[in-house]
Amino acid sequence: MKKIGLIGLGYIGTTIIEAVTDETIEDAIIQAVYDIDEERMKEVHGEFPEFRLMEDQTDFHDCDVVIECAIQEVVAQIFDSIVQDEKYFIPMSVGAFITIDSLYSKYQTLDKMKKKRILLPSGAIGGFDCIETVKAERIQSAKLKTRKPKRVFRNSSYIEENEIKLSDATPTIIFTGNAKQAATHFPKSVNVAARLALSTLGPENTLVEIIADPTVSQNIHTIEIESDVGKYTFNFENNPSPINPKTSWLAALSAINTINQI
Ligand SMILES: NC(=O)c1ccc[n+]([C@@H]2O[C@H](COP(=O)([O-])OP(=O)(O)OC[C@H]3O[C@@H](n4cnc5c(N)ncnc54)[C@H](O)[C@@H]3O)[C@@H](O)[C@H]2O)c1
Repeated sequence: MKKIGLIGLGYIGTTIIEAVTDETIEDAIIQAVYDIDEERMKEVHGEFPEFRLMEDQTDFHDCDVVIECAIQEVVAQIFDSIVQDEKYFIPMSVGAFITIDSLYSKYQTLDKMKKKRILLPSGAIGGFDCIETVKAERIQSAKLKTRKPKRVFRNSSYIEENEIKLSDATPTIIFTGNAKQAATHFPKSVNVAARLALSTLGPENTLVEIIADPTVSQNIHTIEIESDVGKYTFNFENNPSPINPKTSWLAALSAINTINQI
């Protein structure tokens, strides 16, 4: 029986609790929970008095698996303890690995066994069976093209500062750069860009293109890989979660699937 420590009791955290309760997540119990919002902690404890309330985000001594579904900073705050205590770790805020330099280098220099305990959820994309089979050293180029409805960029400061004109009829490429730059200008694309970068060429060498498209209603991610082994294109046309339309359904399901892989 896996004992889960859950940090962050928002949409993804709640989805995980439900999946453990209805046994979509197999052979697991929620051992301990933490959220910075005390009211939320009380609410969850009222409903599930058997969950231990953690004193802080590193109080996961009695858990086998720690799942972070809070914010990027938490990944950095708990990373060293996780590695030292040899816990399995599922960080949902994977963007932390490209926005926080020290975290990326810590992750890259982990020995093989320690790295194996860090399970990166595929989130709103996929294809990692193929990508990780090819291996980063055989990849010449890795690119993520993210196409979102034009309306998504209505209040984007990047568009305003760069005086980009968006067409009402045709797609406009609004950004081309590396994953690290994309994360700075488009924080909402950070998890997907980071996830691809971590399995391919890293934050500096993984390319990202962001497109405002008046002809689409979903977020569409396309991964293009050129390698010694072959050329691969993966396309993800995600539907929003029926419960939280701000998140793609696939991302929440990937958290569940990742836990089941342990
Ligand atoms: N990997 C992916 O593809 C993917 C997809 C969707 C979301 N995410 C990421 O997962 C995380 C959670 O997403 P969500 O939709 O559940 O968010 P949410 O806003 O619904 O929930 C976040 C919860 O974390 C809590 N929290 C905030 N700061 C905290 C802290 N310092 N310590 C403990 N708890 C804290 C909040 O009170 C809230 O209850 C976000 O960082 C999001 O970007 C990743």
